[in-house]
Amino acid sequence: MEKINAVITGIGGYVPDYVLNNQELSRMVDTNDEWIMTRVGIKERRILTEEGIGTSYMARKAAKQLLKKTGVDPDTIDAIIVATSTADYKFPSTASIVLGKLGLKNAFAFDMWSACCGFIYTLDTAASMIQSGRYKKIIVIGADKMSSVVDYTDRSTCALFGDGAAAVLVEGTTEDVGLKDSYFRSDGHGLPFLHLKAGGSVCPASHFTVDHRLHYLYQEGRTVFRYAVTSMSNDCALIAERNGLNKDNIRFVVPHQANIRIIEAVAKRLELPMEQVMVNIEHFGNTSAATIPLALWENESKLKKGDNLIFTAFGAGFVHGASYYKWGYDGSTVEQG
Ligand code: UT7
Repeated sequence: MEKINAVITGIGGYVPDYVLNNQELSRMVDTNDEWIMTRVGIKERRILTEEGIGTSYMARKAAKQLLKKTGVDPDTIDAIIVATSTADYKFPSTASIVLGKLGLKNAFAFDMWSACCGFIYTLDTAASMIQSGRYKKIIVIGADKMSSVVDYTDRSTCALFGDGAAAVLVEGTTEDVGLKDSYFRSDGHGLPFLHLKAGGSVCPASHFTVDHRLHYLYQEGRTVFRYAVTSMSNDCALIAERNGLNKDNIRFVVPHQANIRIIEAVAKRLELPMEQVMVNIEHFGNTSAATIPLALWENESKLKKGDNLIFTAFGAGFVHGASYYKWGYDGSTVEQG
């Protein structure tokens, strides 16, 4: 039997309309555009401001656009997997809500919870499911409403994050394209440096947790920065070396978008000019599991069949890794939905 490769055959995306720029942030906390631009590289981020809607709203919008753009029959979808750290509810899964809203009849759904590595870990999981031959079409969504866990009185974190979602369709092919290789590692020592203290089983919600503002993301930025640079650079170098990739045959590195200085360090390690690096941090900020698929969504028209891409991410846990992906279609021919 011929080997089945798992390939992305379409992308949809969604970001909320509301733009929170650095000027507005500097009226909320003691910060300024110059600090945020030089230290992080973010000008503005999108925020889902409407009350009563969460991550599934954005995920559904992205998946709807994906279905429209690809023209795929929704009844042929086998599964939806949502990568998120900001699920609508503790349970049920956000993916099950998206599935219900899309009206899929022959699919099952589950979430994967791997912080900023959510998309690359989920894509790899979906690829294995496709390669097994048991599933034909899987929707993978990276979606996060980071504004729901950001403390807008804390200047050290509130400038960093935004909201958004993007969805890809993963299918089988016998052509030599798709996910080729991944190197993933998790270093469980990351807990003290990046976490959300309350609301889980260790520290359930209470008056105390609310009074002490424990339902917001906590980060020791400098430590996370150091680990992120080292891990993402090493992971990319390893995946490049074992697949014979270099600056001449890599079309794009698509890094998680947490800090422009981290992204530049990764590019430097691979000796890549910034034109070969997808960057959307300036206008979307860190959308956690959504950064990489959103970058693909925005740059779809630049991608050609056979392009070599490296995806890389780092996040809470610490989780990190890199994947080698060979793009499967000419993006310039796709009608944008
Ligand atoms: O996606 C998940 C993974 N996350 C990441 O990869 C994030 C990694 N970390 C970072 O990107 C950076 O560490 C930050 C952007 C979070 C912070 O940048 P930094 O260069 O590491 O700054 P710092 O935390 O060392 O703070 C330097 C100074 C401090 O002032 P003092 O103590 O030197 O007087 C901060 O209080 O900058 C101050 N500062 C700010 N100033 C103006 C911190 N936040 C701000 C702010 N505006 N928003």
